[in-house]
Amino acid sequence: MDYKSQFAKCIADLLGEQLTEQQAYELIEVPKYASHGDFAFPCFTLAKTLRKSPVLIAEELASKLHNPLFEKVEAKGAYLNVFLNKATVSKQVIETILQQGNHYGDGSLGEGKTIVLDFSSPNIAKPFSMGHLRSTVIGNALANIVEKCGYQAVRINHLGDWGTQFGKLIAAYKRWGDENKIKENPIKELFNLYVKFHEEAETNEQLEREGRAWFKKLEDGDEEAHRLWQWFRDESLKDFSRIYHLLGISFDSYQGEAFYNDKMERVVHLLEERGLLSESDGAMVVRLDEKELPPCLIKKSDGATLYATRDLAAALYRHETYEFSKALYVVGQEQSLHFNQVFSVLEKLGFDWAKMMVHVPFGLILKDGKKMSTRRGRVILLEEVLQEAISLAKQNITAKNPELENKEEVARQVGVGAVIFHDLKNERTHNIEFSLEDMLKFEGETGPYVQYTYARACSILRNANTAATSEIKELTEESWEIVKLLASFPHVIQKAYKNLDPSLIAKYVIHLAQAFNSYYAHTKILVEDEGLNSRLALVHATTVVLKEGLRLLGIGAPERM
Ligand code: ARG
Repeated sequence: MDYKSQFAKCIADLLGEQLTEQQAYELIEVPKYASHGDFAFPCFTLAKTLRKSPVLIAEELASKLHNPLFEKVEAKGAYLNVFLNKATVSKQVIETILQQGNHYGDGSLGEGKTIVLDFSSPNIAKPFSMGHLRSTVIGNALANIVEKCGYQAVRINHLGDWGTQFGKLIAAYKRWGDENKIKENPIKELFNLYVKFHEEAETNEQLEREGRAWFKKLEDGDEEAHRLWQWFRDESLKDFSRIYHLLGISFDSYQGEAFYNDKMERVVHLLEERGLLSESDGAMVVRLDEKELPPCLIKKSDGATLYATRDLAAALYRHETYEFSKALYVVGQEQSLHFNQVFSVLEKLGFDWAKMMVHVPFGLILKDGKKMSTRRGRVILLEEVLQEAISLAKQNITAKNPELENKEEVARQVGVGAVIFHDLKNERTHNIEFSLEDMLKFEGETGPYVQYTYARACSILRNANTAATSEIKELTEESWEIVKLLASFPHVIQKAYKNLDPSLIAKYVIHLAQAFNSYYAHTKILVEDEGLNSRLALVHATTVVLKEGLRLLGIGAPERM
């Protein structure tokens, strides 16, 4: 089924010692124009070793290559172009997909291995930002992709639930807080308290002192401080859970920063034991001069531990608990230095698994070309965006298909699908300009466009009198584009895993949907003739792959819209 590999093998066989299959594989290209074949092998590199002109090499290879897999083999300049046998390939691809169903494209690379993914990880008592949305949807898609490659995925939400800001929040609550208001709208009210604290603190020095005192109490296990903190955390999680529920995303662990409070002493001990700690202005740091990195701050002069210390403790804990073969941190690129430092410290501690830790950064979300920031009140609430998308989807459904069953759930899948896809179609590291309008578009290169294509294909299958069989006889030229795309799905998944980039799958489902729609526009699928079964099988295979592609992105595929 891997036709590129099969072509590479043919070339390697013909060339004997000159070129390995792997080398051939890496050289093979996909021609820009379909008229130049399905694959092309450039002969330039061989010209040197064989001391022949690449044109001559291409001609010789073309005359020697005989394989029923190819219906035409052609030398074109320095290239050896091959045309796959459409009938054979179509039959193989479609049969395989119908047999394997949603397991088509499953890989075995990760068998018996675990990958932990740290993603989403919002800060409690603060609004869930657009940046956290990126981490959430990219992280979730990556978790699906690694699972597809055979790994066990552990989804961890490393909540930002500890730090001096909670001392301030308690102080603010004690002064101005209203229990009922918070219960009604936890994140909003807590955030208001936080903002008010900072405003008032500008003219009232007493406040900062109160905040510090409350944080000290919290760290010392004071009953009231702890109760309030726990309450803020619980209420925040309720708010976050609503968002995760809308998005259809869940986690294996919500153990955030606070969980590591009693696990940091050990890290500090280890560092001391290995003689890695040094003092700097009363603080304890690990120097990373040899890596030309600034020192990693472990303990502040007042004894308080830090973000990095928690991440070190978390890494140790996760390694012991999950025995991961890889740990991915899906966190914005502005934290690159932080992760670089944390990974370097682990390396200095002598953990060979430190090299299995990967920071997976992503681009910023910009507003008018500038970074969006919570502090300047530019915050855009994710939940409102999602609700807006869902209600737009509902309007569409009511207009087009008022009789539809479970309208609510379909509207959720479509609205949320638009928002998720809008994010994932961008290359992971690219910045995205925030545009609510674009996020709510349902046409063009959008999630709903793919979902709509899927639903249309499902309706064709429903309207057919016979079930699709894998008896492939006659398929027209137009179907070839679809078959080629279907055949490449497993490679696309592997590449998405290799690059840790879901956008490859997003682009792929768009291409497949476009190819299907153009086939649909040119072909009468449901006419009763010799080719009916084959066409239905093609449609069926397309639905399987579209649905699975969307699933990997974390997007649902309703059968009726
Ligand atoms: N809470 C952090 C933030 O919002 C992200 C945490 C990322 N994960 C980690 N292990 N440091 O910026």
